[in-house]
Amino acid sequence: MSSKKMDWQTPKDFFDKLNKEFSFSLDPAANGTNALCAKYFTEAQDGLTQSWKGETCYVNPPYGRALKNWIRKAYEESKDPDTSVVMLIPARPDTKYWAEYVMQANEIRFVRGRLKFGGGETNDPAPFPSAVVVFRGGHNGQQSLCGPVISMLERA
Ligand SMILES: C[S@@+](CC[C@H](N)C(=O)[O-])C[C@H]1O[C@@H](n2cnc3c(N)ncnc32)[C@H](O)[C@@H]1O
Repeated sequence: MSSKKMDWQTPKDFFDKLNKEFSFSLDPAANGTNALCAKYFTEAQDGLTQSWKGETCYVNPPYGRALKNWIRKAYEESKDPDTSVVMLIPARPDTKYWAEYVMQANEIRFVRGRLKFGGGETNDPAPFPSAVVVFRGGHNGQQSLCGPVISMLERA
């Protein structure tokens, strides 16, 4: 198992808790069986090239080479005051995209322990740590002089 697998499905109770807080309207990285919102984009529609304007997005992107493109997209879309994006991504603070985009987010919530994602062959905990990154609508890339608010998040 590695974080390169493309369809790590968000654990339901973990999503439910975030959804209670944010009331998501769009899941831009999904398919017909794992979508978490009534409105979603599939690979064929390509969520990366669609507009997310006016939506409150929950994004658990494919964890492959395109991951950085999803994070850049979240950053760009949420400059709009009407568009917010909450992402579940592997916690990799050593990457270039973390420095460029994630550090411009409003919040980084590091998940305590390892998530048990759905959709896999086993129910083992993920072999990588996770973080929830919150880009609130209207950010301008400079959230505060101190950077994002950092916190620890329970798994559910
Ligand atoms: C990590 S899974 C997330 C599934 C579900 N949304 C969740 O959070 O549990 C990523 C999903 O994105 C889909 N996907 C891959 N490339 C995509 C693209 N360019 N546009 C939209 N969806 C895509 C994959 O088929 C997969 O179902």
